[in-house]
Amino acid sequence: MEMSTDGRTNALSPVPWWRDAVCYEVYVRSFADADGNGVGDLTGITSRLPYLEELGVDALWLTPFYVSPQRDGGYDVGDYRRVDPLFGNLRSFDRLLASAHRRGFKLIVDVVPNHTSTEHRWFKAALAGGPNSPERRRYVFLDGLGRDGSRPPNNWKSMFGGSAWTRVSDGQWYLHLFDASQPDLNWRNPEVGDEFESILRFWLDRGVDGFRIDVAHGLFKQHGLPDAVRPRNSGPYFNQPEVHQVYRRWHRVLAEYPGERMAIGEAWVDTAEQMTLYLRHDELQQVFNFRWLDATWSAASFARFTRETLDVLRPIGAAPTWMLSNHDIERHVTRFGGGLSGLARARAATLAMLSLPGSAYLYQGEELGLPQVDVPPTARQDPTRSRRDGVGRDGCRVPLPWSGTTSPYGFSPAGSAPPWLPQPHSWRSLTVDRQDRDPSSTLNFYRAALRERRAHLVSLDQHVDVTASGGLLRLDRGEAFSCLLNCGARARRIKGYADVILTSGDASTQAQVAAGVLPPDTAAWLRRSPPEPQTPELSARGEVIAP
Ligand code: BGC
Repeated sequence: MEMSTDGRTNALSPVPWWRDAVCYEVYVRSFADADGNGVGDLTGITSRLPYLEELGVDALWLTPFYVSPQRDGGYDVGDYRRVDPLFGNLRSFDRLLASAHRRGFKLIVDVVPNHTSTEHRWFKAALAGGPNSPERRRYVFLDGLGRDGSRPPNNWKSMFGGSAWTRVSDGQWYLHLFDASQPDLNWRNPEVGDEFESILRFWLDRGVDGFRIDVAHGLFKQHGLPDAVRPRNSGPYFNQPEVHQVYRRWHRVLAEYPGERMAIGEAWVDTAEQMTLYLRHDELQQVFNFRWLDATWSAASFARFTRETLDVLRPIGAAPTWMLSNHDIERHVTRFGGGLSGLARARAATLAMLSLPGSAYLYQGEELGLPQVDVPPTARQDPTRSRRDGVGRDGCRVPLPWSGTTSPYGFSPAGSAPPWLPQPHSWRSLTVDRQDRDPSSTLNFYRAALRERRAHLVSLDQHVDVTASGGLLRLDRGEAFSCLLNCGARARRIKGYADVILTSGDASTQAQVAAGVLPPDTAAWLRRSPPEPQTPELSARGEVIAP
């Protein structure tokens, strides 16, 4: 059999790598700091690739590392073709990419097409060009309402809070669906589409395997910019039909390059069905499926969101994606209640997620069981901190703890500037080094789950039977595999399986499950006996027993 150069995928296989890949989100600012300025960088990532190899992920997604004033963690891009000196330069990027490819990783980078930074040369030219200049037509500039134009052109709100419009000194207003430092581009101007095709080609020519598209449901605004009355994701500024022409064009660009290049869209939609529009055969390969982020700790809720996803994707043959955490949302240990039970639930939910067909996106630090951090108000940096909820998203972006017993926990070399966000004292027990040595650590659990997934699950039937009963979620793939997740308050008796592949707990949990008892806040991967296929089930009496 001919193998592809990365040694992981079979070049003859009709299944492209991204369909079942586990992709690890590297939040570049917070992963590893090699140059000692307190902010993560590209060389830091290169130096930690062996860690990611041992973890067992297939692909890496890098958050924006382009030239930027960093008002929104790099999602405010000043130059799409240059690396911000904070993170390195094009040479350090090329070294990282080559090293990642040598180790068999695919590497995808973020592209931010909805808006630029106000520091981008186009926006500076738009300000200088004045009203009605061709430079201004690359953005959304309008006169205001009222006799003196002092009211914004419509009622749109920024996702970060406050009006989505800012007035400039000559009296016109510009649109920004995010921070005022992130002016929205005018995708009705063909120059914008041409520029982004050229940006994609720039990175594809360097060898990236794909893109994560920021605010992929944005870009086009409804003609006439009417006031918003509908729910957020269906407002006149998101999910407009014209955006699909852009992804058809990008699909054709990706297809020109060898090696299954791909794009995944961050497209927030109001219904699962809307996801499918982006996944038509000539558009994006993947979109983020945020359904599990809405799941509460209940089997019924996980079952509902899983079925909803699978049911809409099956008819179009698209592979699902799953995620529980990313750099914009509260970490799932904390969402599921925090403390030891939040951690147990997070591990259990992760095991259930990894049992599903399709690809999974992990967020750096979840493999260490990191909780959300309560970043002190004076240290907060996220632009949403002062508006949306007063707290912002810094709590999931705190630099990773690698080693040692005091901050920076190996994130930066000794004697460096302090990490850009403070790390809590409690993280001394969560470092990679500590967890590496502890067989029941969350890190070793993730390593085992990814190893077993690759060994046993990737080749399984893509169809999943999803059932929920009395707090127990059951995901059956094919004749021989089940994942059980106990969201109930009490242990459940289970039977009808031959072997325990893995549980989300420690060795004693493994023994309990082997003896037919699934503790609360626990998931297990089970193999059913082939000769007499029997599904794992609750005892006939629906017996509930104590842990
Ligand atoms: C990114 C955020 C960013 C926003 C604006 C999002 O979807 O994930 O971190 O603040 O886009 O670019």
